[in-house]
Amino acid sequence: MIEADRLPGLAAGLRLAAHRFGTPIVLTDAAELARSAEELTRAFPDPWLRQYSVKANDVPAIVGRLGALGLGANVVSRGEWAIARRAGVPNGRITLEGVGKTEADLRAAIQATGQRDPVLWTAIESADEAAALARLAARVVRRDELRLDVLLRFNPAVEPETLPQLAVGAESSKFGLAADELAAAIEAGGGPDGPLRWRGIQLHVGSQLGAIDAWRDGVKRALAIVGLLGGTNPEFDTLDLGGGFPVFEVGSPAPRPERFARELTELLAALPADRRPKRLAVEPGRFLVARAGYLVARVLHVRQRTGPMVVLDAGMTELIRPALYGARHGVVALTSGLRPWTPDAAAAPVAETTLGRETGLGEGPTPGDGLASTAVEGPICESTDSFGRHDLPPLVRGDLVVIRDAGAYGASLGSTYNGRPRAIQVILEADGGLTVARRRGAGATIR
Ligand SMILES: Cc1ncc(COP(=O)(O)O)c(C=O)c1O
Repeated sequence: MIEADRLPGLAAGLRLAAHRFGTPIVLTDAAELARSAEELTRAFPDPWLRQYSVKANDVPAIVGRLGALGLGANVVSRGEWAIARRAGVPNGRITLEGVGKTEADLRAAIQATGQRDPVLWTAIESADEAAALARLAARVVRRDELRLDVLLRFNPAVEPETLPQLAVGAESSKFGLAADELAAAIEAGGGPDGPLRWRGIQLHVGSQLGAIDAWRDGVKRALAIVGLLGGTNPEFDTLDLGGGFPVFEVGSPAPRPERFARELTELLAALPADRRPKRLAVEPGRFLVARAGYLVARVLHVRQRTGPMVVLDAGMTELIRPALYGARHGVVALTSGLRPWTPDAAAAPVAETTLGRETGLGEGPTPGDGLASTAVEGPICESTDSFGRHDLPPLVRGDLVVIRDAGAYGASLGSTYNGRPRAIQVILEADGGLTVARRRGAGATIR
């Protein structure tokens, strides 16, 4: 599939929004949001459950739009749960998971069941958590034979093709239960006839998967376990495959959701019909929102170091991924010398390896006419607050640049460090209109 680059067509709208609302500003391209949801739905059509992983972008308006596009919500805390509810997603389309659920999180899941408005399932991470959940549940849900639907988060012990920090399916990661811990977790949670109804396995191999090999290995292992545990737990019918569908620079090869879906079809076909899970789910985060997000920033000053260096008014407080794990995001000028600048040339794909591109280890393009390799820095008092080097035209104070693919793990991982207000969130509608999705944070000011 050849992916069109929408940035050249959006550049004027991004400039307009920056002038109207100020910078830093995050714009979400509604048409791209719909396009990615549509691609995902084509790969995983009904009756697949498509659970948007709210952690990727928790702006309620975006969660709500994805809800309207057929996505449920996968949440990791009562906070995310509340956001999903505020966005209009009903409990029946919400799944609760998370490596660190509090007693209050667990109690909330049980209360919802007691009120006959349960979440679809709660995924548990350990025997300790299973025991705590069962203890709390026994007081509430046994009445009237209510039971709480539970998945077991499985650590597949594979070697995901991604950054080490995103490789949560690796054996050494803190996430999930090892294969040999699953049966003990069921026992700790009251066994097959206790207050918890064991429905299946949840898996998340890793984020930004550059290839499908580790994913295939992980899914194979999960399928074997569903078959095995299904023998003693009659309602064990669900396999939730997590997220991980990657978003690399526009034009760069990346396995699409359809590639993962095709692989699963083959894995299922190799199993006897009675060993196949009856209910399947995915939990995409990044794939749905990353490409749609544009972080627009203004140049605060230009220095000469070993070549040009610019300091922007956006940085790790708006998009921490480069500082947190060396992720690479394209940076493109929207103006040069305070005049509109067309980003077409700069948006050309870069020939790098997947991991090189993501980590910034690969080489960038050879600077073209008028472009210079420019160090792009954020305004925060941390030297890791840097977007790396990018080929940019001459820039002056006041020029606008856009940081690409900023829709995932940007706003939701943002902070107010250095006393900075949260950036404004605006949706760029398909007809060019601008809808404020979340106002700029008030911040503290000296008058
Ligand atoms: C359990 C689980 N599901 C889904 C996701 C979403 O991953 P991605 O944004 O890579 O699709 C994550 C991300 O960390 C996760 O931990």
